[in-house]
Amino acid sequence: MKKHQRRQETEAVRGGTDLTKKNGPLATPIYQTSTFEVTDSEQQVRATHTDMFYTRYGNPTHTVAEAAVAELEGVDAALLFASGMAAITTSIFALVKSGDHIVAQRDIYGGATKFLSQWLPKMGVETTFVDTTEYEQHARAIRPNTKLLYLESPTNPTLKVVDLRKAAALAKQHSLITMIDSTFATPINQRPAEFGIDLVMHSGTKYFGGHSDLICGIVAGRRDMIENIHESRTVLGSCMDPHAAFLLLRGIKTVAVRVQRQNENALRVAEFLRAHPKVKRVHYPFLEGHPQRALAMEQMAGGGGVLSFEVDGTGEDARHLSEALHLFTLAPSLGGVDSLVSLPVLTSHAMISPEARQKMGVTEQLIRLSVGIENADDLIADLEQGLAVVSTTRQHAQVG
Ligand SMILES: Cc1ncc(COP(=O)(O)O)c(C=O)c1O
Repeated sequence: MKKHQRRQETEAVRGGTDLTKKNGPLATPIYQTSTFEVTDSEQQVRATHTDMFYTRYGNPTHTVAEAAVAELEGVDAALLFASGMAAITTSIFALVKSGDHIVAQRDIYGGATKFLSQWLPKMGVETTFVDTTEYEQHARAIRPNTKLLYLESPTNPTLKVVDLRKAAALAKQHSLITMIDSTFATPINQRPAEFGIDLVMHSGTKYFGGHSDLICGIVAGRRDMIENIHESRTVLGSCMDPHAAFLLLRGIKTVAVRVQRQNENALRVAEFLRAHPKVKRVHYPFLEGHPQRALAMEQMAGGGGVLSFEVDGTGEDARHLSEALHLFTLAPSLGGVDSLVSLPVLTSHAMISPEARQKMGVTEQLIRLSVGIENADDLIADLEQGLAVVSTTRQHAQVG
């Protein structure tokens, strides 16, 4: 693990950039080019292993963003991908081969569940899903051919928190590689490498981009592992477009301040919801009563900007509420400056069977909020009016 040179707010703004005095642009230029010219054949050979050969292999705009993320995560290196799913699939393809086995938490992003349970078996790789916080179950699921322990924390959408030290120790004992989807946390709130996790993955679409205007994936970790995944990215062609990488870099500069504000707003919103009579349950790692609050507070600097709650009513009530909100825009995704609301059964977990959803606690009444950087009082007022609509609708329904 690499030592941090500066504090995170500074690493976010200046990370990956050359701070020596020079004449030149302050902002990293967009190398919007698919290829790079060379002067002669000797130079052509030298260029092959650099970020100025062919953009599917790498690109100088990518390099700056990758260095910034690696600094924030406190690891050797990082790689950008066309999407979070491209980061997940490309990395796993690099790590396993036919005949290998994976142990994965039950609560992970729906797209990852689908890839592990429906696509990898076609290539001879089997996955055993285990209850997210049951480490005995993890240990029992490990076989001689297990290669990878796949984690996500906090989880989407029920915000369970994984004991990173325990998971890393178990993996080490059995010589497994650990990979974590740390999208919800961001390195501002959690740096899994500090707990012994090998590979940290993000949907950069969310907090790193931060403005709901790009699609991106990131994997960060030890140099040898990243080089292996780089080879896989080159073959599969899951690289990011340079223009989007520029937007990502711009997002990274403000990620620390955005996430700090989102932590504060989400906690305020969670506390409001917990006290509301129309709300049955609130899931938020830093909220009093969360089953892993102590663990969350030990391994995270903040609870993050996402929370979910169950309406005390029916699935229809949850739909009415999500439609009645104005400041929380009805849309999938999360992590941007604008607050969003979504129903996981219709969005992130629509591709999961109802039985599997039940096991994960993803009910019809569950609503997920991605809290943005607006004023918390305005967000709470919006929820208050939305919840009032639900109670009115329910009263009408009951009368009718
Ligand atoms: C936790 C998590 N991981 C991974 C992904 C996939 O990322 P992308 O949409 O960038 O492919 C998502 C998308 O919603 C997500 O929420």
